[in-house]
Amino acid sequence: MTNHIKIIQPDDWHVHFREGDMLSVVTKYSSRVNRRCIAMPNTLIPITTSAEALNYKKLIEMNAIKKNFEALIPCYLTDNLNISDFEYALQKNIFIGAKLYPNNATTNSHFGVNNIKNIYNIFEILEKNNKILLIHGELNRSDIDIFDREKYFIDEELNHIRSSFKDLKIVLEHVSSDYGVDFVKTNSNISGTITPHHMLLTKKDVFEKDKINPHHYCMPVVKNEKDLISLRKAACFDNTKFFLGTDSAPHHVNDKNQNNPLKAGIFSSPSSIELYASIFEEENALENLEIFSSINGPKFYNLEINRDYLILEKTNFNIPEYTQEENIKIKNFYGNQNINWKAL
Ligand code: DOR
Ligand code: ZN
Repeated sequence: MTNHIKIIQPDDWHVHFREGDMLSVVTKYSSRVNRRCIAMPNTLIPITTSAEALNYKKLIEMNAIKKNFEALIPCYLTDNLNISDFEYALQKNIFIGAKLYPNNATTNSHFGVNNIKNIYNIFEILEKNNKILLIHGELNRSDIDIFDREKYFIDEELNHIRSSFKDLKIVLEHVSSDYGVDFVKTNSNISGTITPHHMLLTKKDVFEKDKINPHHYCMPVVKNEKDLISLRKAACFDNTKFFLGTDSAPHHVNDKNQNNPLKAGIFSSPSSIELYASIFEEENALENLEIFSSINGPKFYNLEINRDYLILEKTNFNIPEYTQEENIKIKNFYGNQNINWKAL
């Protein structure tokens, strides 16, 4: 029986650090196991300039528990970006790429892009500079069912972006459907991140009778068994196109109250690599964990593969119910549940 596994140190290619006290609490958890993280730019005032990116990077790295931890920042795309600053920041590696949030698709996306066709000049700049376009791939329109938003985005926007900018490297973030997996597999220059929660939950875990479980509510919303199976197969057995991105997105427990407008987001960083290991073990694919967690990501981003290693021990890990420090209290994903692996 395997009691330990040793993998190249992972990176998390999609995580939310927030700001203020929340940032200092959650950064500890992401920097616990990862060497690098892409810090999503959907802060209250989104990160749209080189100066904001440098400042945000510094703030996160200051709070990390390991010295060599690196925060990588994408630019939050808006309808009216300062193009010369954007291009400068790409060329100086201040921005790792750019994140496209269609307007009102998720938390803090009201500054997002209204008409994607109007920012094709930005895609051209990304393509020319060999930088990545990260996409929240959901179309939020009143006539589109919440479960179909990814499919509609692919059909009505992504297909067109893909065929217009053939050399533009794209990450379809938090792929959530069988349809999304298929799109990534069958198109070139596109990869996908996959979260633990999309491989552990289905819509029955969110919509329970006539109530929503706020702690399982995220964007894109989790879907059917068929989608979950397809995502597991993609993560565990497609050895090139998919990589680790937790979309760990903390909200204070009070903001997850049923009485408030529901905030989307699941906080998984206290047990992220452990949850992935448990899933890979269930799929009899532990030997492929490292490719997903530590190799496919840096290869796609044209970055070095990490030199250090992480050891996971097979043991009973009871995930605490909450992350709590002073005025911060966040419900942990899988809180109060036992899993089989713990990072040493
Ligand atoms: O569930 C989500 N929460 N999905 C996102 O895309 C954003 C995130 C957040 O920032 O809370
Ligand atoms: Zn996210």
